Parts: sequence; structure tokens; C-alpha cells
Amino acid sequence: MNIILLGPPGAGKGTQASRLVKDHDMVQLSTGDMLRAAVKAATPVGLEAKAVMEAGELVSDDIVNRLIDDELAQLGPVRGVIFDGYPRTAAQAESLEGLLAKHGRKLDHVIELEVDEDALVDRITGRFTCAKCGEGYHDRYKLPKIPTLCDVCGSDQFKRRADDNEATVRQRMAEYRAKTAPILPFYEGRGLVKRVDGMAPIAEVSAGIEKILAS
Ligand code: AP5
Repeated sequence: MNIILLGPPGAGKGTQASRLVKDHDMVQLSTGDMLRAAVKAATPVGLEAKAVMEAGELVSDDIVNRLIDDELAQLGPVRGVIFDGYPRTAAQAESLEGLLAKHGRKLDHVIELEVDEDALVDRITGRFTCAKCGEGYHDRYKLPKIPTLCDVCGSDQFKRRADDNEATVRQRMAEYRAKTAPILPFYEGRGLVKRVDGMAPIAEVSAGIEKILAS
């Protein structure tokens, strides 16, 4: 099972992908996570991507296509893949076709999380993660049970993303509308697009995705 999770920033792609990894032994390929790791490690890709990401714009197609190619090559054919935040442009969608064929995979579903953009600004500007294990939290919707300690690993170190401020979030949304939403008809034409209400509580969104996977 290979799926794409599509939706604007804060739609819940990462949240749902993590759950799918736990429940289905799938692999999450998040170009955002890969790029953030590259920025942190100050690799040539990271140095090129840093300012672009902080401005809320899209990193070049060449870079992300190469990242996905490398990851698929390492993965081998066995486990299902969740593409989280990729593809994001028509050129990336086209490249993915070639990469799937090259690595002997086929796409089963493109799941669009439908959301209200204004609510997303609140979701994104309030989120933070455990710096040690990556567990996600939110200032209003999901605080750790003991406020200063991660529920999962007990760490007292938390972090926020550099691009999670309102101005950058609005720019990321504009990029989504201009460059990513227009790739939906490409997949619609092939009958692959399924929609889930991304404004529902997290468990309900998960249940909607489960229904699609079982269909
Ligand atoms: P990326 O890391 O992909 O960020 P994004 O698409 O902006 O998405 P987010 O990670 O912000 O949101 P999400 O949908 O995963 O939501 P989440 O589950 O965290 O990309 C970052 C940057 O990297 C881009 O701007 C670009 O520069 C670059 N980049 C990445 N991929 C690229 C590509 N392919 N091409 C070019 N450039 C690329 O949820 C958000 C919050 O809401 C959390 O706090 C969560 O707990 C909460 N939440 C989730 N679901 C719900 C719910 N149902 N109800 C209430 N709260 C919820």
C-alpha cells in the first residue's frame, strides 16, 4: 500500500502519517522532515534549503525529487510508503510517476485532508514537539500531562519550528494554493483521490483514513 497525504500546512499530514506508521508498519517519507534534518546537519542541501523554508516557499523540485529517490532506493520493495508533503508541484508529481516505476511500486490512494485555512494558523502557531523523541504537542489542544515533561520519553526539552510563525504560515498556504492544489486533477483523473474531513477530531480523521485503506 503506497499513499500520498495531501493538504495545506497544518492539515494533519504528519499526525496521521505517524499513526499509520505505528498501526500498519508503513514508512513515512516526509520531505519536510528530510529537509529539516539537512538544515540541522548543515549539509549542502540544508544550506540551500534553509532560507527558502524560513520564507515559507518551496525548495527546488530537483532537491526533493532526489531525496525521495534516495529514500525509495534504501527502502527496498517490502513496506508500504506514506508520502507526506510530497509531491507538491506538477513537476514533482510527474517525477514521482517515474520513481514509483523505477522502484517497483504503484500508488493506491491520494488522500486529501480538507481543512479550513484560518483554523490552521492557530493549529500551527501553537504546536511544539519533544526535542528528544519528536512527540507532537499543542499549546491548547494537546499539552503534556506533566507540563514540563514529555509524556512519551520524559524529556524536558521541547522545540518549535522556525517556520511556524503566522507570516510564514500564510506564505506556505499561498504556495499550497498556487502550486500543490493544482496537482489534484492529475490524480482525480486516475480515480485515486479520496477526501477526509481534516477539521474533525484526530481520531475521527484516522478512522476516515482507515476506511479508505480498507476499501
Ligand atoms: P512540511 O514539513 O511538509 O510542512 P507543511 O506541509 O507546511 O505541513 P506541516 O508539517 O506544517 O503540517 P501537517 O499537515 O503535517 O500537520 P501536523 O500533523 O503537524 O514542509 C515545510 C517546508 O519544507 C515547506 O514550507 C517547504 O519550504 C519545504 N518542503 C517540504 N516538502 C517540500 C516539497 N515536496 N517541495 C518543496 N519544498 C518542500 O498538525 C499540525 C498541528 O495540528 C499539530 O499540533 C497537531 O497536533 C494538530 N492537529 C493535527 N490534526 C488535528 C485535528 N484533526 N484536530 C486538531 N488538531 C490537529
